[in-house]
Amino acid sequence: MTERTLVLIKPDGVQRALVGEVIARIERKGLRLAAMDLRTVSVEVARTHYAEHDGKPFFDSLVEFITSAPLVAMVVEGDRAIPAFRQLAGGTDPVEKATPGTIRGDFGLITQFNLVHGSDSPESAAREIALWFPGL
Ligand code: PPS
Repeated sequence: MTERTLVLIKPDGVQRALVGEVIARIERKGLRLAAMDLRTVSVEVARTHYAEHDGKPFFDSLVEFITSAPLVAMVVEGDRAIPAFRQLAGGTDPVEKATPGTIRGDFGLITQFNLVHGSDSPESAAREIALWFPGL
């Protein structure tokens, strides 16, 4: 089933020059890029993107981090793209949850700096793609 998912290479991934590595893994998996943009996101967009986590202890810090420097936003498509990218990313905590061989497991150490985001459901993907790439 062809799907689209929103992928972010967060500011830590850009600063650590891991953009090519992440895109290579996406493409080697057989997924395709449908849109891509390097941008610094506004606090308003960041708060909307992470709205379901508003009120959690890490929310303000996460918004501050994600707006602090340029990130790469992408729409990735292909068969079961949503779970396929989350498999590539690995679990949220790069040490406790992500396994070696995943992006977070191979390159991450601290949860806030876990390098990438991928939509977690078709509903989230539709909402996030409309937020980041309106009209796509
Ligand atoms: S939760 O609490 O289970 O709903 O959290 P989770 O779905 O795993 O993560 C939601 C997003 O918040 C990020 N996150 C954090 N950021 C900073 N510090 C801490 N401690 C933290 N814990 C979770 C996590 O990476 C998710 O963001 P994305 O961009 O989707 O990866």
